[in-house]
Amino acid sequence: MNDKQRVAEHAAQLVKHGMLIGLGTGSTANYFIEAVARRCRDDGLQIQAVASSVVSTIKARQLGLPLRAMEHVGRLDVYVDGADEVSPDLTLLKGRGSDLVREKLLANASDAFWVLIDQSKQVERIGQNYLIPVEVMPFAWQLVQRSLAAIGGEAQLRANGDGLAVTSHGSLVLDVRFPVEFDGKQLNGKLDAIPGIVEHGIFHGLTTAVFCGHDGQVREQWA
Ligand code: A5P
Repeated sequence: MNDKQRVAEHAAQLVKHGMLIGLGTGSTANYFIEAVARRCRDDGLQIQAVASSVVSTIKARQLGLPLRAMEHVGRLDVYVDGADEVSPDLTLLKGRGSDLVREKLLANASDAFWVLIDQSKQVERIGQNYLIPVEVMPFAWQLVQRSLAAIGGEAQLRANGDGLAVTSHGSLVLDVRFPVEFDGKQLNGKLDAIPGIVEHGIFHGLTTAVFCGHDGQVREQWA
C-alpha cells in the first residue's frame, strides 16, 4: 500500500453512516472512492455522494456508490480530495486537472474539507512547484491575461495535444507564473477580484484537515 492509498483508507474510516460526501478528482481521490466503496460493501456503511468530475462520477458509479447531482444538493457533510500543494497555513493549490470549479464549489458547500496528500505535496508557499491555474471565460482570456500582468503574473493559455485545453464546462485555462514570491492569502483575494476569471486554483480558508501519508504513517493536521 502506498502513502496515497494509506491516507485514503484513513479518511474512509472516518466516514459515518448517513453522510453526504463530496468526491474529489485525481489519483488520491480515486483511492478514497475505492476505500469508501469497500466500506459500503464490507461494513454495511450507507452514504450518498456527489462527484466533482466526470471521471469521479464514472468511478463511483462503477463501484456502486449512490450519487446525487450537484444541482440537487444543498449542504454536504464532508468533501474529500487531493491537492497539488499544501502550505503550512493549509492553503492549497489545486487544478492541475481541469475540474477546479466543481471542486471549490463542493469544498465550500461542505461542513468539513479533508485533504489527502503524501509528503511530496507539502510546500513552504503555494506556487513553489506549480503554476497557478486560472479558469477564464473564453472570450475574456486576453483581458484576464492583462489583469494578471498588472499584478505581476505571466499567464499562458494551457494547451493539450492538439489545441487549447477546454474544461468540462467550456472555460479556457491560464497557467500563471509569479516571478516574485507572493503570499497565498493575498493572491487569493486579488484573483477573486479580477473580472472574467471563473475560478482559480488557490483554495484558501476552506481546509478543515490535512491527512498526510509519510513513511507508512498518517499525520493529521487540523485547521
Ligand atoms: C484535480 O483537479 C486536482 O486538484 C487534484 O486534486 C490534484 O492534482 C491531486 O491529484 P493527485 O491525487 O492525483 O496527486
